[in-house]
Amino acid sequence: MRHLSLAVIIAIFGGGGVVAQQPQFFNTVDGSPLNFDDAMEEGRDTEAVKEFLETGVNIYNENEEVMKEAEDIYNTMCSGCHGHYGEGKIGPGLNDDYWTYPQNETDVGLFSTLYGGATGQMGPMWGSLTLDEMLLAMAWVRHLYTGEPDTAGWLTPEQQEEFTPYKPKGGAEE
Ligand code: HEC
Repeated sequence: MRHLSLAVIIAIFGGGGVVAQQPQFFNTVDGSPLNFDDAMEEGRDTEAVKEFLETGVNIYNENEEVMKEAEDIYNTMCSGCHGHYGEGKIGPGLNDDYWTYPQNETDVGLFSTLYGGATGQMGPMWGSLTLDEMLLAMAWVRHLYTGEPDTAGWLTPEQQEEFTPYKPKGGAEE
């Protein structure tokens, strides 16, 4: 019985991947729980958003069909501060494995940063992007990753095998 109740406790309070469970979202800076009440009506119940809120998996990652749209959203909403290739400008680089906030190593953490913002110029995105667009912007940030595939924990093992670290080419489109 002791083992059973331990399993139940892990299931309820979050064993971080031990037991499949809904991810929990927290503000990147102050750690307060995030709910998505303020999210725009549009784009709340796409397949990708539903899947992500259930499992923390972003089905747009390395999904050819949405990459163009993902790139456009990033270039409109993020590149001005983070650079065309995520190399960093007035905002920090997003294309390597160094994170000011280590939670951004996971897609649940990255989504929380987009939704709730961080400090200074990194304002919350809930008024500017739909939840679905946040997942698209994230997919492009992940696509720009220049680190080794085995450090890309947001990819499935199969995707890691396929993944080639992004190589910025002077101004040309990928
Ligand atoms: C107006 C400028 C600006 C825009 C636009 C902007 N950011 Fe930021 N971003 C910043 C700054 C400045 C920081 C550093 C904030 C901090 O450290 O608290 C930051 C921090 C971040 C971080 C945390 C990085 C880390 O090392 O942990 C992520 C992730 C991020 N931004 C992603 C994005 C994405 C994706 C977009 C577009 C949807 C975006 N940002 C749009 C300025 C911006």
